[in-house]
Amino acid sequence: MIRFDLETKSFLLSGKNYSYAMFVNEAGFLQQLYYGKKIAEIDLPFLISQAESPDPEDLNMDMSTDWMPSECGSFGRGDFKSATVIVKRNNGSAMSRFKYQSHKIFDGVKLLKGMPCIRHAENTLTVTIKDDFSDIEIDLNYSVSENSDVLVRNATIRNGGEESADIVKAFSFCIDLPYSGKLSALRLAGNWARERKPVTTPLSDGTLRIESTRGHSSHAMNPFMALLSADCNENSGDCYGFALIYSGSFAISAEVDCHQCIRMQGGINDYMFAWKLGAGESFQTPQAALCFSNEGLGGMSRAYHDFFRCYIINPSKVYKRRPIVVNNWEATYFGFNNEKLFPIIDEAAKLGVDTFVLDDGWFGKRDDDRSGLGDWFVNENKLIGGLKTVIDHCKGKGLKFGLWFEPEMVSEDSDLYRAHPDWAIKKEGVTPCRSRNQLVLDFSRKEVVDYVYNVVSKILNENEISYVKWDKNRDITENYTSSLPVDRQGEFLHRYMLGVYDLAERLTSSFPNVLFEGCAGGGGRFDGGMLYYFPQIWTSDDTDGLERTKIQYGTSMCYPASTMSCHVSACPNHQTGRTTPLETRGAVASLGAFGYELDLSKLSKEEKERVKAQILDYKEIDDLILKGDLYRLSDPFKSNYFCEMLVSKDKTRAYIVGERFRNEPNGHEELLKIHGLADEKFYLISELNVTVSGKALSGKGIVLPRIGDCGSWTWHMVEVR
Ligand code: DGJ
Repeated sequence: MIRFDLETKSFLLSGKNYSYAMFVNEAGFLQQLYYGKKIAEIDLPFLISQAESPDPEDLNMDMSTDWMPSECGSFGRGDFKSATVIVKRNNGSAMSRFKYQSHKIFDGVKLLKGMPCIRHAENTLTVTIKDDFSDIEIDLNYSVSENSDVLVRNATIRNGGEESADIVKAFSFCIDLPYSGKLSALRLAGNWARERKPVTTPLSDGTLRIESTRGHSSHAMNPFMALLSADCNENSGDCYGFALIYSGSFAISAEVDCHQCIRMQGGINDYMFAWKLGAGESFQTPQAALCFSNEGLGGMSRAYHDFFRCYIINPSKVYKRRPIVVNNWEATYFGFNNEKLFPIIDEAAKLGVDTFVLDDGWFGKRDDDRSGLGDWFVNENKLIGGLKTVIDHCKGKGLKFGLWFEPEMVSEDSDLYRAHPDWAIKKEGVTPCRSRNQLVLDFSRKEVVDYVYNVVSKILNENEISYVKWDKNRDITENYTSSLPVDRQGEFLHRYMLGVYDLAERLTSSFPNVLFEGCAGGGGRFDGGMLYYFPQIWTSDDTDGLERTKIQYGTSMCYPASTMSCHVSACPNHQTGRTTPLETRGAVASLGAFGYELDLSKLSKEEKERVKAQILDYKEIDDLILKGDLYRLSDPFKSNYFCEMLVSKDKTRAYIVGERFRNEPNGHEELLKIHGLADEKFYLISELNVTVSGKALSGKGIVLPRIGDCGSWTWHMVEVR
């Protein structure tokens, strides 16, 4: 619901449980008023009476507007916090003072062109603000829906003048909130094989900025930050989330100023960014998803999970049962042939797996990571009879077939590179950085994207492929394209990203029956932008039964369980060397899109029986993974236990997975309170053969199993009447 009150010139935007208010003050600025629990229009006059606003007379004397809570920070006229949008004109000036011009409220949403965005919304408000000193206008867009706790924002910057201008900063959103001395910031930091660790630190005067300069959202920092009130915990307290629907280099900053205001803003990273805006042209920023919850971190996460499922992920895929896959990567790495693959496929069929996924190494001259990328035609020396033989073998056993690609990459030892050395990102005269021995294709060039579309489409057209894993195994360096003039090089990284989105859009819409899984050396590009095209993403290359609990826990802060591709791999684990029970690896992986990443034919008879049972069990609960509400019951970073529950929306069924990390001799009993069930309902926990009320489970709790190192348990709960 969006309301405009003409008398007070105020806007009230409300979703399921939140409201967001702002007004046009006497001096003509769009001033932020309120963001928090849902309120009514009747509250607006009170909020305005509490807001200190600049006097127009003062402004004529050029008084500073530094203390005014803004919706778009400007540069050079007394707003001393960092600006949201900066546009340099040909006369060298970049100063700005954006004032309200007009607004419109309409049903639905303005879809972005060539970029991921929400697919629908109930209403959108566009407030147009105009610079006092130039012909630059900005549309601030706000989309809300009655059933969602997420407000979606972005900005469109327009050059209404007759000369070109250079945008040097174009963030998607800005909001100034009261700081009150007691907020902490949570972000998801990490590295390869240990992605998205929640890190929370108190904020204080100054700026906390998280960013990626790597050309993709990155393993190191996810494009998401949450602000936590002093009393915020997993189940209660206020928290605000800020997530970008963007997969390229980004920045989000939390700036506490001398007036005890906190400016939250973010978008495309402005570091080395520039965009030439010709006369009459406009530039759209990616969307940002803002979320308020007064039910703590858990409430915020569930709001984001619903948001991604209802508004971002492809509706034809989001709630559709995902295939249980077996992937050959850790089973064979590059060293496979038909003789090695067929036994895996045969065993997979016997155990109930749905799809066999052939990973890296099936194409070109690809026997290790030094060659072949870009040559997307089958290596018949390795796979005698080509892909068809493997696919026919799968079909004969009742399995579907999936295939790995790394569309954005090229090896120098490849036919593609020999034919088009200029298609790789590099600067003449400078030896390019090689990471994993490969270079990145210049996706800012349309002919490169067209070529990759054609070769990948050919493979998908000529073969029965139901699943594609789209990988990306390195950061971008050199940041240069020969296709842009000197003064436009700052556009390169964003143009690269637009090329990736273009290819993803064309491939996913040309092959609507194929399930595309995202991947970037594990979870290096796990973000809202990618989820628009790929309903699931390979969460991490670390599949260790213990470490995975932490990675999945951190990822769940923002992203739903169904988006996390999770596989059971062999022991000792290839990343950590640790051995964990097969039950534990299965239980932890069952909290996402499930599969296996090992040579099934090498398992013992007992292990095969267990795998068969795991697959059957997963098929009983996969609707909860796809559609349920996630409750994090124990924090694996702070306790000896990991425990999570998925509950059906009607609270009649639940599935709990727990793991105990270290065994302690003579340890005391630990009680775990189970929040998220219905107080008044009674549940049968089948494994324990007890019936108990939701009230008792959240009030008293349940004694956690005392099992050996990395031992796990699963509990299935169903309402009894
Ligand atoms: C990185 C991925 O995360 C792995 O699963 C695997 O596909 C390799 N790349 C293949 O090169």
